[in-house]
Amino acid sequence: MTTPHGFDDVADARTRLEGAGYLPDDRLATTVFLTTRLEKPLLLEGPAGVGKTQLAASLAEVTGRRLLRLQCYEGQDESKALYEWDYGKQLLYTQILREKIGQVVADAKDLTESVDRIAAQDSVFFSERFLAPRPLLEAITSEQPVVLLIDEVDRADEALEAVLLELLSEFQISIPEVGTVRAEQLPYVLLTSNNTRDLSAALKRRCLHLFLDYPTAERELEIVRSKDTGLSEALARRLVEIVRGLRELELRKAPSISETIDWARTLAVLGVGELDGEVLGQTLNVVVKYERDLLRAAQALPRLVDPNATVPDHLDGHHGHGHGHGHGHRHDHDDGAHDGVATRASKDEPGRHDESYYGAAGRGAGSGRVVSADKGQRSFAAGQARRRPV
Ligand SMILES: Nc1ncnc2c1ncn2[C@@H]1O[C@H](COP(=O)(O)OP(=O)(O)O)[C@@H](O)[C@H]1O
Ligand SMILES: [Mg+2]
Repeated sequence: MTTPHGFDDVADARTRLEGAGYLPDDRLATTVFLTTRLEKPLLLEGPAGVGKTQLAASLAEVTGRRLLRLQCYEGQDESKALYEWDYGKQLLYTQILREKIGQVVADAKDLTESVDRIAAQDSVFFSERFLAPRPLLEAITSEQPVVLLIDEVDRADEALEAVLLELLSEFQISIPEVGTVRAEQLPYVLLTSNNTRDLSAALKRRCLHLFLDYPTAERELEIVRSKDTGLSEALARRLVEIVRGLRELELRKAPSISETIDWARTLAVLGVGELDGEVLGQTLNVVVKYERDLLRAAQALPRLVDPNATVPDHLDGHHGHGHGHGHGHRHDHDDGAHDGVATRASKDEPGRHDESYYGAAGRGAGSGRVVSADKGQRSFAAGQARRRPV
């Protein structure tokens, strides 16, 4: 492990991240440099698979810091994020010390007095010795500076978000029985969000904020190239364009960078010499993971492979042929959440993306989004259907 050290400047941040296989664009390299210099947490929002989590891992690697990760989820108890009392250890100690404890209460005249005497010893058992730190407290108390990743914070409840505020602004955690624990070594803190819900203004205010979108074609090609997929440069370039075309479709889970990489590897392993509709169609399942998405992607492939083919703009599904009732396909009920215009409009505005865009499980279509009357019914059904985790 290298000795922990920060970045000299933006170029240094970029070069070292690239050296670890992470290719940031200018904005990201600048933001990363700033977050390490301003000692301010960085909140990264954006679709799944654009390198948010990986950035934290790479940052830890190139700065020689340990990575501590708090993976957020719905219903997460703050004790799993901050600290817990080590009940087993407390119990073990009281058993070993049974005789000693017996002496403390030996001459107490009644139960009340015994309880009072034991209570007076509380602080012995609720002290740092019996504290089991979870990632947030560990990040604060670590002797060596760390990178703290608070991953997918949008999945956590607002209560946990509130708990984070003290940590994010003061780099400290209050433990009622012990007092306030301040960071000896300031961690680099990265938070990520897939935008399944809006985060509180208070949280955003405490962070540097960056919306990380899919990369440009050029950068994505560089990333694919850097992964030594075995696919030729020319084919990789074509492939990136085709994946970008797929992202334009209203898919439940748009293909991310990792899918582009997987697809490139797949095609290389198959020894493909030319990207035609047939071989792409046969391997579509590498990049598109839902049955309905597969159908849409397969429909769109001919146009993506040969942009000169005349196919109507809205070929991705439900506009042309009614509402899909009676087709007998199970995927039809999903269609309501994919009003093309609305989704495209929402793409311009970070924080408004619905899960059909990000493919992340969230609070569904019923969470206060305005849905036109004729779509309400179907959107609700889609919300129900999409509650599965992805
Ligand atoms: N800028 C990048 N440079 C190199 N690889 C990247 C980059 N962005 C994404 N990747 C690749 O995409 C994968 C998925 O990224 P990940 O961090 O898991 O996405 P997210 O957390 O945003 O959902 C990574 O493991 C990495 O292989
Ligand atoms: Mg992630």
